[in-house]
Amino acid sequence: MDVVGFGALNVDRVYIVSEIPKAEEESYVLNFERYAGGSSANTIVGLSKLGLKTGFIGKVGSDDDGYFLIEELRRVGVDVRNVVISDGRTGCAMVFVDKMGNRAIILDPSVNDTIRFEEIDIDYVNKFRLLHLSSFVCKVCFDSFESQKKLVREFDGIVSFDPGSVYAKMGFRKIKPLIENSNLFMPNEIEVRLLTGLNYREGAEFFLDLCDVVVVKRGWKGCYVTDGRVSFEVKAYRVKVVDTTGAGDAFNTGFIYGYLKGKSLEECAKLGNYLASLCIQYVGARTYLRNLYLSL
Ligand SMILES: Nc1ncnc2c1ncn2[C@@H]1O[C@H](COP(=O)(O)OP(=O)(O)OP(=O)(O)O)[C@@H](O)[C@H]1O
Ligand SMILES: [Mg+2]
Repeated sequence: MDVVGFGALNVDRVYIVSEIPKAEEESYVLNFERYAGGSSANTIVGLSKLGLKTGFIGKVGSDDDGYFLIEELRRVGVDVRNVVISDGRTGCAMVFVDKMGNRAIILDPSVNDTIRFEEIDIDYVNKFRLLHLSSFVCKVCFDSFESQKKLVREFDGIVSFDPGSVYAKMGFRKIKPLIENSNLFMPNEIEVRLLTGLNYREGAEFFLDLCDVVVVKRGWKGCYVTDGRVSFEVKAYRVKVVDTTGAGDAFNTGFIYGYLKGKSLEECAKLGNYLASLCIQYVGARTYLRNLYLSL
């Protein structure tokens, strides 16, 4: 087995609204769309589409959204037998977009954050070559975060970790146990600044004391990669941007795919930029995968 993901499983409910209301105001819905989301899940779906054998660990509620998320994983070949279905609501991001494109987001982490280490089959996880972690919201409950910390210690294979803004805001001290048990650390430039107070190059250097490879995503500027021996920038592809949702997750898909295929770090970075450039030409984090017929 190749890659197993562990992170939040969310439904993105995107409401196109007349305006984003303030307190005591009301507005109305013009359109509505539901997307399967969750950062790590997006990355895993991409890897599955590229032909890798994948699985996922996480938790959904026993409601329509939960079955929708599981079905969206299963349909592309992700092994979902270890996704826990529990009482309660499935995690959700309510996204409100006005005519100007302004966004307001309300997150409902719900059952995501309640996944306990005892609910994870460690023997199952250890069948995979790589474990990919993304963040949990951790506002109400820290079980999910504690489970990740335990799991990275028990896992024998390669660990890749994308902290996202949520973990970056928790601060370096809190997430250090995850970074020091990772092989690939994959933040974006803003997250490096939040965690270290340093610029992305100095910050990457700092993290190299804790992990093997640091990959910094830099939006339209591309990415910066270092493993202490080689350090380089790779420019992003110039494409018409429609929606950058999931760009980082698609980047991770490309990079991890290359890494597991034994490609050079430079080739991995190019693959990351390439898949991200496809992702941002469509609305939604996984839409680009519909038309993906790659032979890499
Ligand atoms: N405007 C753009 N033009 C070309 N490529 C882009 C653009 N924006 C993002 N990318 C590609 O997407 C990758 C990831 O984007 P970004 O640095 O914004 O990550 P992120 O902030 O972690 O994304 P996410 O919000 O999905 O987590 C970049 O490294 C780059 O390859
Ligand atoms: Mg990101």
